[in-house]
Amino acid sequence: MLILVLAETAVETLPQELWRNRRIAAQVSEKKLTPEEILLDRSYHHKAMLRLKGGERRGRPDIAHFSMLEAVSSPLYLRGLLKVYVHTCRDKVIELSDKVRLPKTYARFEGLIVQLFSDRKVPELGPPLMQLSEKKFPELVEELRPSKVMGLSRLGEKSNFRDVTSLLSLEERPMLVVGGFPKGPFSNAVRDAMDEVYSMCEMSLEAHVVVARVLYEYEQRIGLQY
Ligand SMILES: C[S@@+](CC[C@H](N)C(=O)[O-])C[C@H]1O[C@@H](n2cnc3c(N)ncnc32)[C@H](O)[C@@H]1O
Repeated sequence: MLILVLAETAVETLPQELWRNRRIAAQVSEKKLTPEEILLDRSYHHKAMLRLKGGERRGRPDIAHFSMLEAVSSPLYLRGLLKVYVHTCRDKVIELSDKVRLPKTYARFEGLIVQLFSDRKVPELGPPLMQLSEKKFPELVEELRPSKVMGLSRLGEKSNFRDVTSLLSLEERPMLVVGGFPKGPFSNAVRDAMDEVYSMCEMSLEAHVVVARVLYEYEQRIGLQY
């Protein structure tokens, strides 16, 4: 079983610091919603985010959407050999069950995540498909007890998809960590909880591309038939 964690993922509802911002307040009232029912999104809130602490790494829910879709559509997940977690920039952790089918349409994805942030699980009744808890990344590692925590970063030790997935396939309970943020390295708190960090290539790739490629290579290494 491979554990995939998207770490420090740039997904959160509108932070309180922005609720009184004129443009944001106008958007909230126009949509007839509360600020807790809208995800922070750089494509709509760019100006308001300019003074937000750590703003350059926040407000990119599309990264979570694309990367989660890649993960739960992979043969590895569909065969029950992949467990997926999304750790957010505000230290919340989303645990996906093994039967999640995510909406492909962004508006519906936003609705689902907003509901999850409010109710802490979706659906409200019945066995949860996604659950939310407050947890820092090292706490998640402590709880899951992986045999190795392997991070991927352009700034890590030079390697490639084949070699990294070969190493992963030797582990009994490996955890693979991909950054769910748009810029920069992992924070020290997250980096320090990893055993090893590898770079796949010189280029900075989009998180969803990394997720798709690393899962494909891992499937090859373990000889998954599909
Ligand atoms: C958009 S990138 C974050 C930006 C950062 N510049 C970087 O290079 O790692 C999102 C995530 O994709 C993964 N990633 C992107 N390019 C990578 C590379 N060349 N090697 C390994 N991981 C990479 C990392 O996990 C990274 O946190």
